Amino acid sequence: MKEQLEKIKEEALKQIEASDALDRLNEIRVAYLGKKGELTNVLKSMKNVAPEDRPKVGQMVNEVREIIETRLEESKNSLAKKVREEQMKKEVIDVTLPAKKQNMGHSHPNTIALEEVERIFIGMGYEVVEGPEVEYDRYNFEKLNIPKGHPARDEQDTFYINENILLRSQTSPVQVRTMEKKKLPIRIIAPGRVFRSDEVDATHSPSFHQIEGLVIDKNITFSDLKGTLAEFAKELFGEDTKVKFRPHHFPFTEPSAEVDVSCFKCGGKGCRFCKGSGWIEILGCGMVHPHVLEMCNIDPEEYSGFAFGVGLERIALLKYEIDDMRLLYENDIRFLKQF
Ligand code: DAH
Repeated sequence: MKEQLEKIKEEALKQIEASDALDRLNEIRVAYLGKKGELTNVLKSMKNVAPEDRPKVGQMVNEVREIIETRLEESKNSLAKKVREEQMKKEVIDVTLPAKKQNMGHSHPNTIALEEVERIFIGMGYEVVEGPEVEYDRYNFEKLNIPKGHPARDEQDTFYINENILLRSQTSPVQVRTMEKKKLPIRIIAPGRVFRSDEVDATHSPSFHQIEGLVIDKNITFSDLKGTLAEFAKELFGEDTKVKFRPHHFPFTEPSAEVDVSCFKCGGKGCRFCKGSGWIEILGCGMVHPHVLEMCNIDPEEYSGFAFGVGLERIALLKYEIDDMRLLYENDIRFLKQF
């Protein structure tokens, strides 16, 4: 019995010594110490051993088991260490190599211009709100004093989803949506995308952006409108910028005006940029029509207000002296990187 145990031990240790993988060590463990392993078999044959020798044989079996287990554990540890070391050698990181350059994105000129406009109006206490691009005819036209058949609809021919729903042709419907919420006073700007079935050229696109403005409170007058837009123009184009209000017509404002700013290129003397006139048109505006207030359930006897609408692309083109609107939509990185 003793010799048999000795042989098992020798054999096991020899195999452990020769093994070069963790899997192999596991196989050896099963073969010798497992339920059907060699040592277990010895224990099973104890019934053939004389009763007085059994404790001694039992002790010997345990000793052999312990030796094999210890050796297995040692081998396992040293193999694992070897594997780790090899892995470390393979995955050397050279910390002196220059880092890969991050390819950072870049703000679009439209975005830069919009953030600038938002900054100016937020500074004056305005809130930035948004409305849907798919809009009801009711909001885009009807409640802005542009009933069916009104010629102003032709100027803003747009894309209809059905008779009552369309892609908004202006951001002015956000005025109506805001007034209908009945939280007065109102001081908002509403930037967003608008749509018109226009042919693409240097100054037109079927989809572009506007920024709407609306102020409703008690005792708001045209001088508030003038002062606000004069300040806006100065902030946007420079301290020396002058504004000129030309009478105009919009169905939802009365009186209405178009606003020109003095040419920031020539200071008003007249140049190629302003086509010799010294002035550049930038927006439409006016006092909110009493009929529009009534349609939104605001009493025109108690409240008054002004509104304005700016073309975002127009601002970006002017500010960055870009002469073709199409450049803004081509997303040529060589162009965009300049701003
Ligand atoms: N919605 C007008 C347009 O697209 C621009 C406009 C003019 C907006 C006057 C206004 C305004 O709020 O008061 O042509």
